[in-house]
Amino acid sequence: MSDLNSSIVQGATPSNDIMLAMDIHTNIPLKNFTTMRLGGNARFMTEVRTEQELIEVYRNAKTQNLPVFILGGGSNVIAKDEGFKGLIIRIRIPGFEVIGDDLHSKTIKLGAGEDWDSVVKRTVDMRLSGIETMSAIPGTVGGAPVQNVGAYGQEIADTLQSLTAYDSQSDQIVTLQNSECGFSYRHSIFRGEASGRYVITSVTLKLSKNLPHPPFYEALQKYLDERGTTIFTHQVIRDAVIAIRADKLPDPAKLPNTGSFFKNAIIEDWQLNELKSNNPDVPNYEMGDGKFKIPTGWLIEHASLKGALIHGMRVHDKNCLVLINESASTYSDLASARDEIIGKVRDTYRIQIEQEPLEI
Ligand code: EPU
Repeated sequence: MSDLNSSIVQGATPSNDIMLAMDIHTNIPLKNFTTMRLGGNARFMTEVRTEQELIEVYRNAKTQNLPVFILGGGSNVIAKDEGFKGLIIRIRIPGFEVIGDDLHSKTIKLGAGEDWDSVVKRTVDMRLSGIETMSAIPGTVGGAPVQNVGAYGQEIADTLQSLTAYDSQSDQIVTLQNSECGFSYRHSIFRGEASGRYVITSVTLKLSKNLPHPPFYEALQKYLDERGTTIFTHQVIRDAVIAIRADKLPDPAKLPNTGSFFKNAIIEDWQLNELKSNNPDVPNYEMGDGKFKIPTGWLIEHASLKGALIHGMRVHDKNCLVLINESASTYSDLASARDEIIGKVRDTYRIQIEQEPLEI
C-alpha cells in the first residue's frame, strides 16, 4: 500500500511496475462521483479502459490488501461519510458490436463502460426492440445487470443473453449466461451471494427486429392513449418514456438523487388481504407464488410523507419513491431520513421497505 501511495504522491514509477500505465488519484471526494452527492473520500481511484488494465489494477490492489469497489456512473450508489479506504475502479471499457444477426433479432455486445442511454438511443435508431422503455436511465451498461435495471415493462434480464466479467476468485475473465446471473426484481447474484466477486466487463443483448407492441405498461399506455397514438415505433416509445420520466423523475444533474430510493415492496397474499381491508384502493401487481408487488411510492405517499423534508432530504412530490438531496450534507442525514421513512411505513402498514441503491 505504501508503495502505491508514495508512487502516486511523488509521481514516480511504482517498484512493482504493475501500476505503470495507470493513473491513480488519491483522496477523491466520492460526492463528486455519485449522483446523491454525499459521502467522504476514496483513498484511491482509477479508471480502466480494457479488461487487461482492469485485471492488472485489481491484482495489484489485492497484493497490497486494498479493498476494491467498482463504480459505473454512480447513479445507484450511496457513499458513506467515512469514505472508502481502498481503491475505486471506474469502468470505462467501450464497445458496441453487432455479433449476431438473423431474421428476427440482432445480438449486440456492449462494453461495460458505455453510457446506458446512448446505447438505448443507438438501438432505437437501428429499429431494435427490447430496451427502448429503459430510455433515459442514468448510468453505465455494466451497472445495469447488477440491480437488474427495469422500467415501463422491460428489465435487462429479458434481453440479456450473457455477460463477461473478471472473476476475482478464479482470477480470470468468465462468461455467465443469463440463467447464471440469478435475476429477479431489482436483484442479481452481483448484489447478492456473489457480491464483490465479479467485475462486469461486457454485456450481450439479443434485441428483436419487431416493432414494440401493446399492451404497454400502464403509465406508458395512458400517455400514448391520451395523445391518440396508434403507431408504435421504437422512437415513439422512447420519446414517450423520456417525457414521462422528465415529468416524474428529477434530473440528477440538477437535483441530486438516485432515482427510486426504495424497492417496491413484495408481500404475501395474507399481507395484501390485511392491507386491502383498510385500503381497498391499494395498487398491487401479482408476481406469482402467492406474492404481490406493492408500489412503495404509494405506501410513502399514504403515510403522509409526500413532499416532506426530513434531515435535508426531500420526498419528491411527484414520486414518493425518490429522495432528493436538497440540503443534506452527510450520509448520516440521509440514513436518518431513510430510517424515519422506513419506520413510518412500518408503523402505518406493518410492511418493511428496503433501500434500493447499493452502498460504498
Ligand atoms: N404511486 C403513488 N405514489 C407515488 C409513486 C407511485 O401512488 O408517489 C403509485 C402510482 O400511482 C402507480 C404505482 O404507484 O399506481 C406505480 O408507480 P410507477 O409506475 O410510477 O412506478 P414505481 O413503482 O414508482 C418503478 C421503478 C422505476 C421505474 C418505474 C416505471 C422500482 C424501485 N422503481 O417505479 O425505476 O422507472 O417503475 O417502470 O422498481 C429506478 O429504479 O430508479 C426507477 C426510476
